[in-house]
Order: sequence, then structure tokens, then C-alpha cells
Amino acid sequence: KKVVLAYSGGLDTSIILKWLQAEYGCEVITFTADLGQGEELEPARAKAELLGIKPENIHIEDVREEFVRDYVFPMFRANAVYEGLYLLGTSIARPLIAKRLVELAHQHGADAVAHGATGKGNDQVRFELSAYALDPSIKVIAPWRLWDLTSRTKLIEFAEANQIPIAKDKRGEAPFSVDANLLHTSSEGKALENPAEEAPDYVYARTVSPEDAPDTPEYIEITFEKGDAVAINGQAMSPATLLTALNDHGRKHGIGRLDFVENRFVGMKSRGIYETPGGTILLEAHRGIEQITLDSGSGHLKDSLMPRYAELIYNGFWFSPEREMLQALIDKSQDYVSGTVRLKLYKGSANTVGRWSDMSLYSEAHVTFEDDAGAYDQKDAAGFIRLNALRLKLIGNRNARVK
Ligand code: ARG
Ligand code: SIN
Repeated sequence: KKVVLAYSGGLDTSIILKWLQAEYGCEVITFTADLGQGEELEPARAKAELLGIKPENIHIEDVREEFVRDYVFPMFRANAVYEGLYLLGTSIARPLIAKRLVELAHQHGADAVAHGATGKGNDQVRFELSAYALDPSIKVIAPWRLWDLTSRTKLIEFAEANQIPIAKDKRGEAPFSVDANLLHTSSEGKALENPAEEAPDYVYARTVSPEDAPDTPEYIEITFEKGDAVAINGQAMSPATLLTALNDHGRKHGIGRLDFVENRFVGMKSRGIYETPGGTILLEAHRGIEQITLDSGSGHLKDSLMPRYAELIYNGFWFSPEREMLQALIDKSQDYVSGTVRLKLYKGSANTVGRWSDMSLYSEAHVTFEDDAGAYDQKDAAGFIRLNALRLKLIGNRNARVK
């Protein structure tokens, strides 16, 4: 019996590792991904070895480029935002982790995968729907839903009984739960659970507070090709390099902080503190380039589908036919979404202040308040309005009659 565990190297997943060995007597294979969370990964290798994992069963991978290229960028083509505010930083990373768990299970001849998400949240759903979509016969072990380690004291006791090293700051209750990757950091729970109370400043890890950001604005230019950002200030960059650079700009200017109460898929509301510095700039820039390159028919159609698409990602349906159908439509809409956006970054905000493109649909000849030299006949508008008003007039007459 073998199981592939999504292993962060932290205390909780180390406890899971030992618990899997004890409970199932199975061989554990660990998968630790560098998604840009900003932590050293080699300590996770040392820790896994210390806990008795064979070197050939330890997998540590840098998946940052794949994450941004195949997950973040496709999602940003849609301008996806959940419930008006959340840029889906955790939601979009789960399918990639699940995919690698399943691939490693196949490679090792394992029949199960395991994760450290609780039974109360969205992440369990995302991991497991993704895993089952990719391998209908895979087994999933979710220890948080199974074991009786229901308090911090019991967890610490289990760790001590199993020679799992515990960092000093991990003995007490963690102040809140954090999930981080190249797109965002998210903090939830414990000290943040009362949504009436402002979050303390130490929760923010990736951005200066807007009050402390520079007093002079900074301008940057982002170039897009078919809906994906490809360069900053004329310098071509790979997807992960570009998002990393945007994160640096966002950090400095305090961009992308969010304090938000959301509806989890499992039914409850939860309050989270998010930081999505580069993503917030990227979303604004992408909307900026779409303003001149998308016609209203394409733009309004994809906008109307965006909440559905965002909800699919939030709810864990990345690997579903309906998400792929919407993706095909969204990708098609990006055929001409190429050009450059100029943004002003200033004290927590990123605003488009200029945009240009060879593919632009913007026609100054048509829109000008000056003489348009016959580009547009204002007389046409009279009939246009008359026919659009016909129905409204008939309704108005009916209302006057039946009042
Ligand atoms: N609520 C966010 C989501 O469902 C983040 C979940 C994980 N975050 C955490 N701090 N454990 O996408
Ligand atoms: C968890 O419950 O493991 C984290 C929060 C979530 O998945 O929504």
C-alpha cells in the first residue's frame, strides 16, 4: 500500500505523514511544490527524511511557471473574481497540486493520495474533485476528517510521541491559518474569526500598508499578447517572472489588500485577509487592454459568464467540461487582446492611465466631438432611437390605459 501526500514540511502535514504510516501501515510518498509561497523547500526534504521517507519517495518541484502559465493566466483572461472581490489565489492552485499528486501516484503505483485540508473548507473539495476527475479510481485520504486529534494539545502530544520536531512558535495555538503562492497570500481563522474587528497589521506579509507607500506615483507599462501579459516596461518575461515582478511593484505601493467575508462551497461564511499585489495590477491592466481591443458583443458576453466561471474555480470544478467549455469561449475572445497598458501605481491603487494597440477598435474619427469628416452620420441616430423606443412607447400607452 502506497499513498502520495501533499506535504508542506510544516507541523500539521508532518503529523499527517506519521499518522498515515501508523494508521495504514503504508509507504508514504511526499510531494512538496514550490508555487511561489516564498519558503525554502529543502528543509521539507530534510524533514521528510527525518520522518523516515526514502529519498526516492520525496518529490520537491518548482511548479511556478506551470502554475502561472497554465492556471493563473487562463483564469486572468476571464477577469475572474469571486463574489465581486476575491481573485481566487488559493482556488486556482489546488487543481495543479491535485494533478501532480495523481501523476505521482501513477508513477509509484500508489492507489491513494492524501491532503491536509480540513473537513470544513473549500480546499478538500478542490483537491478531491480534481483528483477524481483525473483518476476515477483513486482513493483520497483526508486525515482531518478521520482522526481524533481534535485539539492543539492532542496534536502536540502525537507529534512528541512520534519524534516530530516542533518549532518553538508552533507549540501554542497558531494565530491564524495561511495559504500562500505566487498569486496571493490568504489568512483565515482564529484571530481573524470576528468579522467585526479590523485585522491587525502583522497579518499582512506581502504588501506595505498604503499609508506607508511612497508619496510619488510610479508608472509601469504592461504588454499583452492574446490576453496574456508578456512584458513589463518593454522587457519580455516568462509568466512566473512577470508575476513576481508585478508582486514587487504591488508590495511597494501597498496594492491588492482585501478583507472579505465569503461564502464557502460547504455552506458557511468565512472571513479572510488576502494580499494579491501583482494579480490586482494584472487584472486592472488586462481590463485596460480589453477596453480597446474587445468589441461590446464579445466583452459583454464574457463578462456575463465570468461569475459562473469564477464560481466553478472556487467550487473546485477546474477539471470539468463546463469550465473547459467556458475556457474555450474566453480564450477565443482573446485573439486580438494584444497591446500595451500604462498604469499608475500609487498608495494602494493601480489605475490604467493609457492603452494602445495595433488591434485597437477605438476610432477617434468616429467618437470625436470635432468635425468627423463624414465618418458618422448623426441623422442615423434618430431612426435608431425611434425603433428602440417603439416598444417602450407601447408599454407607456398600455400603462396609461390600465392605471
Ligand atoms: N478562502 C480561500 C479559498 O477558499 C482560502 C482558503 C485557504 N486559506 C487558508 N488560509 N487556509 O480559496
Ligand atoms: C481548510 O479548511 O483546510 C482551509 C480553508 C478552506 O479550505 O476553505
